[in-house]
Amino acid sequence: MVTDSSIQRLREMREQAKLGGGQARIDRQHAKGKLTARERIEKLLDPGTFREIDMFVTHRTVGFGTEEQQFLGDSVVTGWGKINDRVVYVFSQDFTVFGGSLGEVHAEKVCKIMDLAMKNGAPVIGLNDSGGARIQEGVVSLAAYAYVFQRNVMASGVIPQISAVVGPCAGGAVYSPAMTDFILMVKGTSFMHITGPEVIKAVTREDVTSEELGGAMTHNTKSGVAHFAAEDEDEGFETLRTLLSYLPQNNTEDPPFVPTDDPADRIETELNSIVPDNPNKPYDMKQVIEFVMDDGFFLEVHEHYARNIIVGFARVGGFSVGIVGQQPQVLAGVLDIDASRKGARFVRFCDAFNIPIITFEDVPGFLPGVAQEHGGIIVHGAKLLYAYCEATVPKITIITRKAYGGAYDVMSSKHIRGDINYGWPSAEIAVMGPDGAVNIIFRHELAETTDPTARRAELVQDYREKFANPYVAAARGYIDDVIEPAETRPRLIEALHMLQNKRDANPPKKHGNIPL
Ligand code: HXC
Repeated sequence: MVTDSSIQRLREMREQAKLGGGQARIDRQHAKGKLTARERIEKLLDPGTFREIDMFVTHRTVGFGTEEQQFLGDSVVTGWGKINDRVVYVFSQDFTVFGGSLGEVHAEKVCKIMDLAMKNGAPVIGLNDSGGARIQEGVVSLAAYAYVFQRNVMASGVIPQISAVVGPCAGGAVYSPAMTDFILMVKGTSFMHITGPEVIKAVTREDVTSEELGGAMTHNTKSGVAHFAAEDEDEGFETLRTLLSYLPQNNTEDPPFVPTDDPADRIETELNSIVPDNPNKPYDMKQVIEFVMDDGFFLEVHEHYARNIIVGFARVGGFSVGIVGQQPQVLAGVLDIDASRKGARFVRFCDAFNIPIITFEDVPGFLPGVAQEHGGIIVHGAKLLYAYCEATVPKITIITRKAYGGAYDVMSSKHIRGDINYGWPSAEIAVMGPDGAVNIIFRHELAETTDPTARRAELVQDYREKFANPYVAAARGYIDDVIEPAETRPRLIEALHMLQNKRDANPPKKHGNIPL
């Protein structure tokens, strides 16, 4: 018989747990413009779907007065719930308890959730707001982190892992988010760094604030560590919900198909005039993408980083797809170190989770320069090449304009298992651009001629007519067709239907050795 008083006790304990580190600390959290761990979960998940577990877990540490400081649930809230009616597992660090710091039982709770997610094949979302390793627990907290890291790696490519950084995330604590698939940061309230401003000041004498060092925009623009920057937590959670709508629950599923009212046979005549006559003039590839996708909706990933390449998710005819495209408006869409790394990581994610990749190509080549060469463009460019070569998901490429040099091969060409490769009539597919080609091939002739400018113009025009078009490649079957830009959407949808049962495999191996 369960007595009224025992039920009363249970209820009181639950209420106690919900207070975390107490009302005063909750007030301090709110005063900083941050939500509490449970408020965040409520906003992230479908209403009323959160089921919390391990609410009564308490730490086992003694020393430094910690034994007197017991908080039900310790410094993390864990459980599962639903997003868009699909199960997700969540852990949300509670800054009001020991600053959300991670010790033995905090890690045990996180690991339990990750193990459940792996067994049941559903995404894990971590909401990070923590002072790092629980200092009072010493090496125990380092071991605790490592148990989480190991699980991050085992889960990589099996279930989507998503991190929101909604407060501090410093020291070794950064490595769990870093090993997840996507990191979202909130402007003004979150930061990530290995060593903080004070240590940096002592070691290198550099003066830097936390925000400059590791704030949301720093990691979204400079380092590329973070993929999304939200104005506030609400916007951040909405972004995560949208992101998940494109992803399968795990690597054995296909991504969700979402029927659309946007007609599959929609012709966009404006696309016929989007590429300027002058090949050196930019245009906005995002417009091309938006014209073609269902309802013009595109969730850009890494929007602020390496903007010469665009990556993100969209739907075409209901199919969830990963988009990779050059942006002619930024550095003429050239491939450099950052763009190659950004593209490679995205392509690998899509491939791991069965998401077809559509590539919009307008690439003048790899960026020349000493800094690029010394920075290892060879190895970083190879990452993108490797990722495309390795990918077995449906791969469709639209060459809108330039496809020059090695970059032509890299960008999902037919020769590296591109399934359907189309060129617009404006496509220029060749070893290099007409100007560069003429300068090399006719160097001696131009040096000796009386009017080199006129002769060069003639030769460039001649080269352009002969090679800077899609028909040389089409004649060899290197592109499958030359299509009218206006009909790009129907052609893509048709191709996705045709490829939806694609089966392709790489040889059995322990793992490849991507040039890291
Ligand atoms: C235990 C911690 C803590 C920690 C904060 N607190 N960090 N308790 N272990 N790591 C506690 C504080 O004592 C305080 O308790 C409460 O959390 C809030 O902290 P405040 O300092 O008052 O908050 P704020 O001013 O917002 O500053 C937040 C902070 C700062 C920037 C995170 O607390 C801080 O610098 N903490 C230490 C960070 C750190 O050095 N961590 C270790 C990193 S090394 P009360 O009782 O007052 O509420 C690491 C190695 C991991 O993580 C290696 C893994 C491989």
